[in-house]
Amino acid sequence: MSLPKRIVLVGPMGAGKSTIGRLLARELGYRFLDSDRIIEERCGANIPWIFDVEGEEGFRKRETAMLAELSTEPETVLATGGGAVMRDENYPLLKKDSVVVYLRTSIEQQIERTRKDRNRPLLQNDDPEGVLRRLFALRDPLYTSLADIIMYTDRKSPRLVVRQVINRI
Ligand code: S3P
Repeated sequence: MSLPKRIVLVGPMGAGKSTIGRLLARELGYRFLDSDRIIEERCGANIPWIFDVEGEEGFRKRETAMLAELSTEPETVLATGGGAVMRDENYPLLKKDSVVVYLRTSIEQQIERTRKDRNRPLLQNDDPEGVLRRLFALRDPLYTSLADIIMYTDRKSPRLVVRQVINRI
């Protein structure tokens, strides 16, 4: 089997990108990279703080710079933030030397997996479900157009998703 240099996971908040990415990397003997976590480490602050102080635009700039940096890392599985598809300039960075996998997840699953989450600023309001629905309507076509593989994750264990991704790359 000849593996792609990089596997890039895209999809909404609560799709399981980090869980699945970590497992997938372990199975392939690749390094796991999580762009949000690396941004936090570099910045010495968490994402809510970055949104508070620099606004969403400040976070998006950091995200683009991070995706550019990580796009040259071989033998990696990259978990991206759900909004990585919101800037056109990110597309070539996500596509570079990679197979892009869209972890497609129902709104119900997204709600379930992000319930009580405090580290996602876009969901800290009166209507997190409404936000997830609006973001899904906006972003689902973007994830789909970017993806080489669309993988449904509902009612599947992370292990099964990883198996199915490996069978398709
Ligand atoms: C965001 C998703 C988050 C994080 C930030 C913004 C988004 O990542 O990048 O809170 O715009 O959907 P996860 O998808 O890993 O939760």
